[in-house]
Amino acid sequence: MTESTDQVQEQVEEQEIDLTAANKVIDKYLDMPGNLMPVLQAIQEEYGYIPEETVHLTAERLNVYASQIYGVLTFYAQFHLKPRGKYIVRICMGTACHVKGAGRIADTLVDRLGIDHAETTEDLKFTAEHVACIGACGMAPVIMVNDATYGSMTVQKMDEVIQKYQAMD
Ligand code: FES
Repeated sequence: MTESTDQVQEQVEEQEIDLTAANKVIDKYLDMPGNLMPVLQAIQEEYGYIPEETVHLTAERLNVYASQIYGVLTFYAQFHLKPRGKYIVRICMGTACHVKGAGRIADTLVDRLGIDHAETTEDLKFTAEHVACIGACGMAPVIMVNDATYGSMTVQKMDEVIQKYQAMD
């Protein structure tokens, strides 16, 4: 059974987060003015998301309030507070894709991998995201897996794409 992102997050929180990498990032930017954004970006690069412990570490070491950091993290869509999958499956839910059956494509992902919007598989391989028009309406319905775009999606093509990425490391 595939677990929700919340369940994955609980499991991750049960494990100790190794703060060595975060400390190294902070060391590097410590004396730089305006260092909060580069520190957060580098921490996300190291961990794949921003673990809660690193927020508190950053607050303490950069002498800012944790609430200020959470403000930045929630304002910028580039930051993620939960672990995400290696493959981000973006399903376009814009009008053209919606009309051409994006709902069926999204349902296929729920059916095959058990993940709906903003959910991640237990093995941290896939995260599903429903997004607005990605500018390829002529190929509707469209999905993206990381940087690769797949158009004219059908349930069968979705199965093939899922299998392709499941077979990859
Ligand atoms: S509506 Fe999906 S690409 Fe434009």
